Amino acid sequence: MTKAKRQMQEDMKLIDLVIELLDARIPLSSRNPDIDSIAGQKARLVLLNKADMADPEVTGEWETFFLERGLHVCVINSKNPSDVKKINAEVQKACAAKIERDKRRGIKNRPVRAMVAGIPNVGKSTFINTYARKAAAKTGNKPGVTKGKQWIRLGTNLELLDTPGILWPKFEDQTVGLKLALIGSIKDEIMNTEELSLELIRLLNERYPELLKTYYGLSEIHYDVYPDKPEIAELEAIARIRGAIMKGGETDWLKASNILLENFRNAKIGRISLESPADFSGEGA
Ligand code: G4P
Repeated sequence: MTKAKRQMQEDMKLIDLVIELLDARIPLSSRNPDIDSIAGQKARLVLLNKADMADPEVTGEWETFFLERGLHVCVINSKNPSDVKKINAEVQKACAAKIERDKRRGIKNRPVRAMVAGIPNVGKSTFINTYARKAAAKTGNKPGVTKGKQWIRLGTNLELLDTPGILWPKFEDQTVGLKLALIGSIKDEIMNTEELSLELIRLLNERYPELLKTYYGLSEIHYDVYPDKPEIAELEAIARIRGAIMKGGETDWLKASNILLENFRNAKIGRISLESPADFSGEGA
């Protein structure tokens, strides 16, 4: 078992609720299903983070997807303090049983204790930082709590552990690695930049057929020069229109690829989701 996983299992003893962050553009590819066994019977809240960069319609479908699986869900942009604040209401719903139990035992106003978990780059630190800035107080070490643990309290209802639980992406499926590389969550090592950008064009053409042509204003695409490889013809057209041309007039494929990937990763091309629930129907997801 990895150190991170062991640490998470230790921390699990201290909390009531697991707040699982996913990237709204690729919710299942940015998810490690081990969370189910690690969290056990703890209350759960899924945050579809970076929703500001995802396709709102598809994010709505994902919201339904997780709700149907009995999880509580919030759609958020972790950089936005008011979004972070709105999770409070959902936390109360997710922990209704615990709050009820406390009430029966005569315990009043004991805050819900939660831990943020997710794979690298989904926005855990951003969420915790935004939350901490909103927080009324940062509470120090507590008796009975492992030394060094810090809790961040927002209002009277919720305390957040200041160190997130780190999960690892599930790489068994090749497209998971591809999508994580596309959104910039893992280094472009699994594929070279040019290949990655061609995969992006392929994926975008499947999901948003006219998007690239409209965004870059591509009118002249030499499909005839690259029979069976329309994405190469389109990358070449992007290179021409964005001046990614070398001295001798040759296409600068690397520069064009970097422009495309950057425009996508900064959501300049638009709010895009790279997967929807329908892609996983029949997989028992
Ligand atoms: P982690 O702790 O889970 O590893 O992720 P982290 O918070 O470091 O976030 C990874 C990147 O994602 C950061 O960008 C962060 O600003 C960005 N991010 C997190 N949440 C959101 C969100 O809801 N919307 C958007 N648009 N971006 C988000 P970075 O480029 O690595 O850092 P920076 O340039 O923002 O400092």
